[in-house]
Amino acid sequence: MTAVQGTARMAATAPRRASAGTDWSPHSWRARPAQQLPVYPDPERLADAEQRLRRYPPLVFAGEARKLTVALAKVARGEAFLLQGGDCAESFIDFTANNIRDTFRVLLQMAVVLTYGAGVPVVKVGRMAGQFAKPRSSPVEKRDGIELPSYRGDNVNGFDFAPDARRPDPERMVQAYNQSAATLNLLRAFAQGGYADLHEVHRWNLDFVKSSPASTRYQDLAARLDETLSFMAACGLTSATTPQIAETDFFTSHEALLLPYEEALTRVDSISGDWYDCSAHMLWIGDRTRQPDGAHVEFLRGVRNPLGFKAGPSLSPDDFLHLLDALNPANEPGRITVISRMGADHVEDKLPALVSAAQREGRVVLWSCDPMHGNTVSAANGLKTRHVDAVLREVRGFFAVHRGLGTQAGGVHFEMTGQEVTECIGGSVDVTVESMSQRYETQCDPRLNASQALELAFVLSEQLKSERLSGGRAR
Ligand code: PEP
Ligand code: CO
Repeated sequence: MTAVQGTARMAATAPRRASAGTDWSPHSWRARPAQQLPVYPDPERLADAEQRLRRYPPLVFAGEARKLTVALAKVARGEAFLLQGGDCAESFIDFTANNIRDTFRVLLQMAVVLTYGAGVPVVKVGRMAGQFAKPRSSPVEKRDGIELPSYRGDNVNGFDFAPDARRPDPERMVQAYNQSAATLNLLRAFAQGGYADLHEVHRWNLDFVKSSPASTRYQDLAARLDETLSFMAACGLTSATTPQIAETDFFTSHEALLLPYEEALTRVDSISGDWYDCSAHMLWIGDRTRQPDGAHVEFLRGVRNPLGFKAGPSLSPDDFLHLLDALNPANEPGRITVISRMGADHVEDKLPALVSAAQREGRVVLWSCDPMHGNTVSAANGLKTRHVDAVLREVRGFFAVHRGLGTQAGGVHFEMTGQEVTECIGGSVDVTVESMSQRYETQCDPRLNASQALELAFVLSEQLKSERLSGGRAR
């Protein structure tokens, strides 16, 4: 991640030209029906928090978002692969340097497995530094006859089941901004300050993963990579001469759900005159807020960041095309990532209609697979979980659909963490219904732990390798 532009270029003044026609403004979403937004009890406190956020520096710069669009355009052409992952919900309580480092290093490990194992360049995007707001299936939660508003993420209300905690508090947006700024600061240092140097590849292996089969495979791969680096050094290519060995690009993303926060961080880039949502490089719209005439689509259509939207089983081909019309009218490569989250049992029946509609209409789409959100089930102990087998099955189904239609499986989108949690069932270091409660720590959805995530990277790497060898992927 390179801070290619200074803050001085991001003046919060009127744009030279609006990004999406004159009828769009950062607040035009307010006239549209909005799903999943909290109702703040005190509008003055809300206005005050928004006002302060509007004056705070941008978290990312327009030039970085443009760089990501260019990288994603390559993915859409089949020249690279997108790896997007991180927590379901970041939280204030788990905000530590070690947690950030561990998630970052599992993503690095996965990327090296894909790059070195399958020979495919990887675009790395974290669900980090801003992934706080959560859509909920019910606005209220009931426990022992008591009903309270649902928890909506730490930037909205508190996780504790108590009336005070569950009251939406706009000051939480300011705390989320500060946490995101500190997280980004550390991520930038890790990405560019030596930690991501390929010579460190052995050190990225987390201690607790070392006994797993995926870890043994990883150590083998790291040893081969070391040999390659020695050979390259003998040819004169070292970290000093070749920055690509010493540092990496790492981008941030989150669901653009809490629109007052997103609006407050939306600024004009003085170079292009375009609006950018400077809360993250990439923003996506969730499966519950993707109504073509709704507030979330209205907001995102006007910012020039690369965008995504989730495509669940209820998305019709018509609505899908309307979303592409609204969000990418110029059909620019890299602008739109469609994140399919159909579920292992549905991906092979539901996804082809969308892929075919895009093909028929000549739409450039980066297809990514979220094998998590369509596979959430209740375990026998009542905890929400996902079976690693179902996750793998959805990934394989996703690749099979694209193979069948001659399109590119462009990327994956995971909920994962660098910690040794026991939230998803299965994997080769088997998490069972019995062992699940040992470290069930998520504030929202169950995440893959570090060993499960690494295992998945090897499965993906095999899929990509066979695609490349059969000529299905450009180099
Ligand atoms: C998420 O990505 O955390 C999420 C809520 O996903 P979806 O919108 O696909 O349900
Ligand atoms: Co989730």
